[in-house]
Amino acid sequence: MDPVRRQYQSYPYPERDPADEAKRLIEGSPSHPVEIDHFLHGGRRDWTAPFRALVAGGGTGDGLIMLAVRLADIGCPAEIIYLDMSEASRAVAEARAKARGLGSIRFVTADLLTAPDYGPFDYIDCCGVLHHLADPDAGFRALAQALAPGGGIGLMVYAPFGRTGVYPLQAAFGRLLRDDAPEDRVRLARQVLEALPKTNWFPRNTLLGDHRASDAGLHDLLLHSRDRPYTVAELAGALERAGLGVVSFLEPARYDPLQYLPRDADLAERVEALEPLERAALAEQLAGNMKTHIVYAARPGEGAEARPGRSQAVPHLKGVAAAALARQVAAKGGFSLKSDGLDHAIDLPCATAPLIGAIDGTRSLGGIAAAAGLDWLGFGAAWGPVHRGLCGFNLLHYSQGARR
Ligand SMILES: C[S@@+](CC[C@H](N)C(=O)[O-])C[C@H]1O[C@@H](n2cnc3c(N)ncnc32)[C@H](O)[C@@H]1O
Repeated sequence: MDPVRRQYQSYPYPERDPADEAKRLIEGSPSHPVEIDHFLHGGRRDWTAPFRALVAGGGTGDGLIMLAVRLADIGCPAEIIYLDMSEASRAVAEARAKARGLGSIRFVTADLLTAPDYGPFDYIDCCGVLHHLADPDAGFRALAQALAPGGGIGLMVYAPFGRTGVYPLQAAFGRLLRDDAPEDRVRLARQVLEALPKTNWFPRNTLLGDHRASDAGLHDLLLHSRDRPYTVAELAGALERAGLGVVSFLEPARYDPLQYLPRDADLAERVEALEPLERAALAEQLAGNMKTHIVYAARPGEGAEARPGRSQAVPHLKGVAAAALARQVAAKGGFSLKSDGLDHAIDLPCATAPLIGAIDGTRSLGGIAAAAGLDWLGFGAAWGPVHRGLCGFNLLHYSQGARR
């Protein structure tokens, strides 16, 4: 049996209990319909039109369940194909879908390389999978071939610098524990971890915690049989070889080198002179904390990111309540957030607080401008910092038909 398949048969990842569906919905990036609309359809997709999606390497179902629930919420006529080679993972995902009464999903146990057989798809989610393939380029190609014209992909792959310490330890465990049964490997690996010398980079990397959360987490992080990370440049190269291009990395502002450089006109000019992908690669090298890359991708010329230039555009906040954020901005002229160990300051003029407070996922920009008594020109000037600051950290999206 393929060693990666064997691993996910023994340790479906992430570990999930279908009974928890009654208590909470796990949401994240990529693949929320609002986010898909924002990054791939300019915020103006007609969600009454049919939508075919593939969740490739769907695992225990996090992305799958979020997508299916949110599409059902807006009454979108959707068909979702779940594809994974692990029956054990599929059993968990299927039980979660059943617990929620989701009828839009078809479950398939097969290799991701067969994706084109089930297409074409308007959208493909592939989160945490391609870096485990024996031939990842073949995986990128299979997904690209499965895309319908105008479709897009939401991907997550591992990134090297934030995972500092992982790969030498994976190699060491491979050498030391190669022939043991999965449960013994986990037990022995825990013993070794406890006693690692303080000079080992793994315990010094405070960004990593999966190994503490569960046995499946430890196995996925440190005992993986096949796992290669991608730098920005390597990911862009893999996408390009498959005929795809980057629409946006998430969170976009983290891929801006100016986040990590001193304020200096000369340095800023050098950054401005770089191509967008070079800027992103520089940001990754300077930040040092990126453990994954989440990216929306599409064929060149397709996949339009939303801009705030249309009065019909409907803004949505992600993970923050409009009233609380507005109060914070009014009182402090911005806010800060922590991302993988780093604090980022988002400065927003106090005067933008009422505009932020008016975001409710149904009101258009035109409606928000009118409520604030601003003409479109005045509104554009006031909204600019809100758009840049919040979209930069993936806290604001535009969608006329989807909702959070
Ligand atoms: C780390 S899990 C991620 C699961 C899910 N996408 C998520 O984000 O929660 C990786 C999944 O990819 C599946 N997988 C790995 N290689 C695959 C392949 N070649 N074809 C189909 N599934 C694969 C594994 O079985 C596993 O369920």
